[in-house]
Parts: sequence; structure tokens; C-alpha cells
Amino acid sequence: MNIAIIGKGKVGSALGAKFAAACHAVVYGSRTPDALAGTSNQADAVRAADVIITAIPGTAVIPTLEAIGEDVLADKIVLDVSAAMTADWALVHPNDSVARQVQARFPRARVVKSLNTMNYSVMVDPLTSLSQATVFVSGDSQDAKGTVNELLADLGWLPEMILDLGGVDTAKGTEHLAPLFLSTFTALQTMRFNFTVSRDSNERSVA
Ligand SMILES: NC(=O)c1ccc[n+]([C@@H]2O[C@H](COP(=O)([O-])OP(=O)(O)OC[C@H]3O[C@@H](n4cnc5c(N)ncnc54)[C@H](OP(=O)(O)O)[C@@H]3O)[C@@H](O)[C@H]2O)c1
Repeated sequence: MNIAIIGKGKVGSALGAKFAAACHAVVYGSRTPDALAGTSNQADAVRAADVIITAIPGTAVIPTLEAIGEDVLADKIVLDVSAAMTADWALVHPNDSVARQVQARFPRARVVKSLNTMNYSVMVDPLTSLSQATVFVSGDSQDAKGTVNELLADLGWLPEMILDLGGVDTAKGTEHLAPLFLSTFTALQTMRFNFTVSRDSNERSVA
């Protein structure tokens, strides 16, 4: 698969290394392309991609995609892993999500939200030392979510760890875990944790 990662920071680098190791063709887009650093101009990086990963601040996602161009994004999968927080760690969209806004602004792209509820070290290594792990997936296109599930498998996520929440509207719930993520980090003093859904295996109905 051709994967363009916009942003070669902590998340972009970690995901890119793992996808390259799984034999995907990975290119990185940067605002300041640098051949020595392995980054291209953002629009060039995205042009041949099947999947675009937005590993940049949530507030920068729409302006960055607008600069790349609506036509370039048509039919492509946009895997949005971003969080949109203010400088003092408040939600930028307390009644909405970046992913829903991206889908509304670029209706020909297929937006999937995932991997945004954990530290980058857990994104690419969910099995080591975590007793349980859940990765949430939100998006309107079932095909696009199927492709993202394959990429999640390449990162080490087992099928039973992947929870499809439904359409892109459900991304609001996972984006709004960000404040809980920060207070959990403060309490535990480690980023090596994961929010997990623990399901009753007896399936009793509860009124
Ligand atoms: N770190 C985590 O564990 C984690 C976990 C879950 C979600 N996230 C989310 O994932 C995204 C990336 O996080 P990160 O930790 O990888 O951040 P990072 O290390 O700071 O890297 C972000 C990259 O975004 C680009 N960037 C910064 N400001 C930008 C702007 N205004 N417009 C366009 N591009 C900009 C930069 O690339 P260039 O300068 O090369 O353009 C930078 O390398 C964020 O939305 C973050 O909230 C992070």
C-alpha cells in the first residue's frame, strides 16, 4: 500500500517505521521538506498515496488538507490520528470532532479516526506488557475501515482488540477522551497505558 504520512514527529515516525517494516511504501510530507530528513512537500507526498495519515496537530489538519487540495484527496483514505487541544489542554471542539469536520469539508475523501486514544509507543506496540488493549475505529466507509483494520494488524493489533464504533460522528467520543488521557497520565506518571473496553462475556441484557 502507498502510505503518505503528513508530519514526521513522534507519531508519524513511529507509524512510518512500522508500516515500512511491513513492506508498505511510506512517504512523509512536511511543511519544510528536507531530502536528508526523508520528507517531501506535503502535496507531492500525498499524490500517489492510497492512505494519508494526519500526524499533525488537530487544529492544523483542515488547513493542511485544504492546501493539498480537494481533488488530490478524492477517493483516498484519510486516517486521522490527531488530537485538537488548546495550549492549556482544553478541547478545541467540545461539541464536535476533527474527523467529522474533515469528512464534511472533503466529502470525496474517506475519513477514518483511529489510534488517537493512546500514546504513540502503544500505537505500534499494543501487545507488550499491556494486559488488555482496545483501539477504536470510526468512519462512514466500511471499505476504508477494512483497510485501516489491515494497517492496525500490521501494527500488532489483534482483531478482537479493534472496536468499530460506527460512523465518523462517533469520533467525537474518542477525541473527547483526550482530557481523561492527560489526567490518567498525571495519575500514573507513565504513557504506557491504554483505554480498554471490557465486555461481559455472559451477554446478559441489562434494562
Ligand atoms: N504523541 C502521541 O503519543 C500522540 C498520541 C495520540 C495522538 N497524537 C496526536 O497526533 C498528532 C501528532 O502528534 P506528535 O506527537 O507526532 O506531534 P509532534 O511530534 O509535535 O509532530 C507533529 C508534526 O506536525 C507537523 N506540524 C506541527 N505544527 C504544524 C502546523 N501548524 N501545520 C502543519 N503541520 C504541523 C510538524 O511537521 P513539519 O514541521 O515537518 O511540517 C511535526 O513534525 C497530534 O495531533 C497529536 O495530538 C499524539
